[in-house]
Order: sequence, then structure tokens, then C-alpha cells
Amino acid sequence: MKRNILITGGAGFIGSHVVRLFVNKYPDYHIVNLDKLTYAGNLANLKDIEDNPNYTFVKADIADLDEMRRIITEYKIDGIIHLAAESHVDRSIKDPFTFARTNVMGTLALLQAAKEYWESLPEKYEGKRFYHISTDEVYGALKLTNPEGIESPFTTAASSEHHHAYGAEFFLETTKYNPHSPYSASKASSDHFVRAYHDTYGMPTIVTNCSNNYGPFQFPEKLIPLFINNIRHRKPLPVYGKGENVRDWLYVVDHARAIDTIFHEGKTAETYNIGGFNEWKNIDIIKVVIKTVDRLLGNPEGYSDELITYVTDRLGHDMRYAIDSRKLQRELGWEPSLQFEEGIEKTVRWYLDNQAWMDNITSGDYEKYYDEMYSNR
Ligand code: NAD
Ligand code: TYD
Repeated sequence: MKRNILITGGAGFIGSHVVRLFVNKYPDYHIVNLDKLTYAGNLANLKDIEDNPNYTFVKADIADLDEMRRIITEYKIDGIIHLAAESHVDRSIKDPFTFARTNVMGTLALLQAAKEYWESLPEKYEGKRFYHISTDEVYGALKLTNPEGIESPFTTAASSEHHHAYGAEFFLETTKYNPHSPYSASKASSDHFVRAYHDTYGMPTIVTNCSNNYGPFQFPEKLIPLFINNIRHRKPLPVYGKGENVRDWLYVVDHARAIDTIFHEGKTAETYNIGGFNEWKNIDIIKVVIKTVDRLLGNPEGYSDELITYVTDRLGHDMRYAIDSRKLQRELGWEPSLQFEEGIEKTVRWYLDNQAWMDNITSGDYEKYYDEMYSNR
């Protein structure tokens, strides 16, 4: 079937994996990648598919309503996968307004432009879909009731040896929203607008809330690529607080696979949580990253441990995120395909093999930003 799909934020980390998967897997779809190319957007992430005949890149700002109207109409868009956002919690603490502008007003502009176009067609919302990508951070923070870890109640074929949970509670699709950071508050607000467009106008929407992603092409302000790069340059590894915060990690290609499944098979107006079934304390994940980088660089074991530097904690730092992803597993048969140990090995290898990609991003403006951000921690 022919379709015209708009993917927003496709030059970013997760978006680039989604664009690649759709362009390669669906030659009959026209994939329009809409991205403002902020500091986080990088067309080098899509070099391998940029010349494909079913792919078009458009530079635009999702908060520009007239532009959204023009693009959605011009390309006769019938499906939207919306990933464009400001995505880094530390930046949201410094500059919350940019987050409200892009994440809230930008999502609203996109919804409104899609509504006007789809309602102008004879078939209206028939065969349309507005799929909004969100985060587990909207649910707030869980308690760390088992700091040593208990056996996780969830299993998948790819469950790793490290199969821990650090508390008895998990985020479900029905968990009440309770965002704490300006980032999560802006994402929560955008999720509410998406659901409001379904409930008020009948737009066929879908929302997913995913846990922390890792893998190739992630901007090196996020924990894993930042630490890989700092180890390579023998720079300090800034561990916030005591390093005890817990995150649930998912390999980015598995997130893209989930998005593909849900875009095609998910039920309209539903929410699906997407998780890695894979909780880790920051300090433990940092040790795995150090060990892997040292081994692949041929350094003796323990060589980079001395780079660990405990720094002032992030303001309002959420203690634990842990997703219960069994609805998606049960209803649509999705689960992670990779064990964490395999995923982290692939990831570290990718960053070490693609140093030019990293060096391009970390030179110039970003270097200044990083030095300023971390010098006063
Ligand atoms: P990212 O920061 O790597 O990429 C964001 C992309 O959006 C960039 O290409 C940027 O240029 C673009 N963008 C930003 N503002 C824009 C605007 N006003 N108009 C058009 N484009 C704009 O982010 P990511 O990590 O790939 O996250 C993608 C989405 O997934 C976000 O909505 C995020 O909230 C969500 N998410 C991320 C994670 C994670 O671990 N990274 C987890 C769950 C959900
Ligand atoms: P991050 O990658 O920013 O994702 P998020 O805040 O969305 O979960 O951070 C992951 C965890 O790592 C989080 O608990 C904060 C912590 N962290 C550090 O300890 N040091 C760092 O330099 C960064 C970027 C994060």
C-alpha cells in the first residue's frame, strides 16, 4: 500500500533509526523527514539512506503552524510519527522555555495542521494516524526500595544475566502522570494535547512512553555516549550524586522496531509503554561502559576507573524509572531482541569505529557548552 508518512525529528538519535527502518522496509511509502536541525539534529545520521527515492528531507520548525499546514498538505500526509522534541533534562533545567515552545506548542501546531488537512478530505480521518512518541519520565519517579536489587518479575527471551529490579513498583499505562523536570512536564503536556485531539475531534492518535534508549547516533550529552567519549579522551566522568539512580535501558533499534509494530498494529487511542526489561543503577552501567571501552581499546582492566568523578547532583533528580511493558508484549508480541550485554558491546564498538562522527559534533559550539555546563558541577 502506498502511504505518505511524516516523521518529525528524524535527524535526531531515535528519529534517524526510525527513518532508516521505514525507508528500507517500506519502499512503497514516501517518508518525509521534518527536522529543524537544532544542535541535536544531524543529517550525517542518515547518510546511508539520503539518496533513496522514497525519502525526502524538509528543514522546518514544528512550532511554525503555517509551515506545518503547508508541508502536511503538499506531501498529502496520511500518517505522522512525531519524535521532534527538546530531549535533554539538564538543558531543560537551564532553559525551560525552549522546551515549552518546541514540545508543547510544536506538538500542538502539528496536531492542528494535521486536523485541518485531514478534516478537509472527503474520507476525513479514515486511514490516518497521529503517533506521538513520549517518555516514561512523565510518570515521575519510583522509589528505590531494594537498593541491592531483587530478581525482576519480568522475563523475555533476551533477558540478560543482570536481571534486577530495584523496587516493587513499575510504571503502567494507567500510572498517574507526575512529571518533575521541565523536560518531563513539557512532554506530559504534549501527551495530554494529543489525547485531547482524539477525545475532542476524533483524531486517530496513539501515544507510547518509552524508557531510556542507548545505541549509535546518540548525542554525546547523554550518559552513555558522553562517557564513552570522555574515556577515549581521558576526561573526568561526572557521576551525579551517588550514582544510585536507576534507569531502564533499551537498545534504540528495538525502540524503532516497537514504533514500526505499533504504528501498523496498535489500537487507536491506546497508550503503550515500551521498556527494556532492563534496570540498572547508573554506577553499575558506568562500570560496564568503562570495562567495555578499556577492553576494546586494549587498555588493562581498571585503567579508566580513576576517571569516575562524583559531582553535584542534578536538581530534582528522579530516583528510579522502571517500565512494565507487558501490555505491548502480550497484545502486539513485541519484546527487546538484544540482551543488554550485546547491545552495549555493539554501541561501544560503533562509537569507537565512528570517531569522526563524534569529533564533528563535539568540536566548536558544543565544546563550549559542555565546558560551561560541567565546570561548575
Ligand atoms: P534528540 O534530541 O536526539 O533529537 C531530537 C530531534 O528533534 C533533533 O533532530 C532536533 O533537530 C529535532 N527538533 C528539535 N526541536 C525541533 C523543532 N522545533 N522543530 C523540528 N525539529 C526539532 O532526541 P531523541 O533522544 O532522539 O528523542 C526523540 C523523541 O523520543 C523525543 O520526543 C523524546 O522525548 C522521546 N524519547 C527519548 C528517549 C531517549 O532515551 N532518548 C526515551 C523516550 C522517549
Ligand atoms: P541521561 O542520559 O541524561 O538521561 P535521563 O536523565 O533522561 O534519564 O541520564 C541518565 C542518568 O545518568 C540520569 O540518572 C542522570 C545520570 N547522568 C550522570 O550521572 N552524569 C552525566 O554526565 C549525565 C549526562 C547523566
